[in-house]
Amino acid sequence: MTYVRAAALSELEEDTPTRVEIDGTPISLVRTEGEVFAINDICSHANVSLSEGEVEDCSIECWLHGSSFDLRTGKPSGLPATRPVPVYPVKIEGDDVLVSVTQES
Ligand code: FES
Repeated sequence: MTYVRAAALSELEEDTPTRVEIDGTPISLVRTEGEVFAINDICSHANVSLSEGEVEDCSIECWLHGSSFDLRTGKPSGLPATRPVPVYPVKIEGDDVLVSVTQES
C-alpha cells in the first residue's frame, strides 16, 4: 500500500473539510474527533463536492440534497444517496497526513 503526503496536520482545521487531489483522485480530508479521515470528494448521488458540506458526528453532509456519509465507512445514512463513497486509509507521521488511494477501505 503506497501512502502519499496529502497535507500538514497543523493546517487542517477541526470539522472543516479540506479538498486535496492525489494522483487525480479528489479527496476530502476531515479532522474530527481526534482523527483524520479521507473520503472521496464526490458525492455518490451526483457530481457534487462533499468538502463544501458540513461535518457532524463523524459524518459529512452533502450540501445539495442532504445525504450524510459516515467518514469511517463512506456509507450514506439516508436518501437520496444509496451508494457509499470510497474512503481511504490515513496515517499520521509527525505533521504529515499520509493517504493511500491505492486501496479503498
Ligand atoms: S448530490 Fe449529494 S445527495 Fe444529492
